[in-house]
Amino acid sequence: MDGANPADGPTLIRVRQSGPLAGTVRVSGAKNSALKLMAASLLAEGRFTLHDVPRIADVRWMGELLEQMGVGVSQKGDVLTLDVPETVTPEAPYELVERMRASIVVLGPLLGRFGTARVSVPGGDDFGHRPIDMHLRGLEELGATFTTSHGYIQGRADHLEGAAVLLPYPSVGATENLLMAAVLARGTTVIDNAAREPEIADLAAFLNAMGARVDGAGSSTITIKGVDGLTAVEHTVVPDRIEAATYMAAVGMAGGEVEVAGARPEHMEMLLSKLVEMGLHISPTANGVSVKASGKPHSVDLATLPYPGVATDYQPLLVTLLAVADGVGIVTENVFGGRFRYIDELVRMGADIRAEGHHAVIRGVAALSGAPVRAPDIRAGAALVIAGLVADGETLIGDAHHVERGYQDIVGNLASLGADVSYSVSG
Ligand code: UD1
Repeated sequence: MDGANPADGPTLIRVRQSGPLAGTVRVSGAKNSALKLMAASLLAEGRFTLHDVPRIADVRWMGELLEQMGVGVSQKGDVLTLDVPETVTPEAPYELVERMRASIVVLGPLLGRFGTARVSVPGGDDFGHRPIDMHLRGLEELGATFTTSHGYIQGRADHLEGAAVLLPYPSVGATENLLMAAVLARGTTVIDNAAREPEIADLAAFLNAMGARVDGAGSSTITIKGVDGLTAVEHTVVPDRIEAATYMAAVGMAGGEVEVAGARPEHMEMLLSKLVEMGLHISPTANGVSVKASGKPHSVDLATLPYPGVATDYQPLLVTLLAVADGVGIVTENVFGGRFRYIDELVRMGADIRAEGHHAVIRGVAALSGAPVRAPDIRAGAALVIAGLVADGETLIGDAHHVERGYQDIVGNLASLGADVSYSVSG
């Protein structure tokens, strides 16, 4: 059934060769910020209003988790309201953490405000082994203690005490958990080698609006002076740079000229310079970024790194562009060991890619060929959708629910630019 609503059943995304693309597409607020802001609401009683919250599965699941804790959650369009009570049930159960490992970010705010948290230990996923040792060690330095049994971590803290925490790696999740724990700790916390992603700066801005005293977010050293209490606030989520990159890569594949409204060029400088090196024309507009492309992309080498490096979430999109580029490109994945698993799907579409360890050698081919493929995760799923734009015949992307975890309406948005993309219910 073409044009089906993804909520109707197991979905496939059907893509046919398309392009050139034209028009304007608007990006949503960032999933990776919205989820953390929702968790941060646990830090204060009262009504929070968040604007530009994407209507995606991950946000629904984080909403369910907060509801189970006793928070009132309601989303109308892109406005999310959270009514946080005086006390909550400080627990994140297996079913929800297993579905969305980002749920681990409730640990910091629960310990910070209630001094207790019981959270299911997140497992690995398609990116491979994903430990949370840095989250726990950092929180221990603030005075929390942890025991693990029956698959759950039980955290306790009579009170948290500010401390100097040096992260061995600028982990996004660990930085966020520590930041949210430290805002209500006694005294001053300094997080060194902190992650610098724009979503961290957004979280800090949200916390400061609530009354926290966070300084330096967006740099490697974040200083947090603990306060006695916080209040509920209204906030607009930072635009989604990964969604913006997805539409830019779509133009790189299919050609054309598109304005990506809401895109913040200052949040994606390294990516934009790589796209320019690949031959795309990119210029800022009053509302975002304009992207123009014609002909094959040029091959480049690149390596993923923590911000401000090329984000690992862009990697599947860039590999897909290189799959049809005019030469050989080498991509090094430095952030997640298992993040090349989707490459077999691109190879099924005729791509010439050899991945070994954390390197992939991509020889651009003249054309891709439409095939049934499976989306293994959010961004790789989106990459397969844009691969379909230049593949002859039809590409059917199964497990499309993975894509819907992170994109409010990738199908509608690409179709509005002239792409031949639709939902199709399987079975
Ligand atoms: C977040 C993003 C994800 C993005 C990633 C890196 C969300 C919901 N997800 O994930 O989309 O790809 O940042 O930009 O925001 N690590 C440890 N121990 C820890 C924590 C992390 O070894 O305690 C390792 C991880 O296994 C990985 C690396 O550090 O190899 C980076 O992970 P991290 O920055 O923490 O990513 P997430 O916060 O999980």
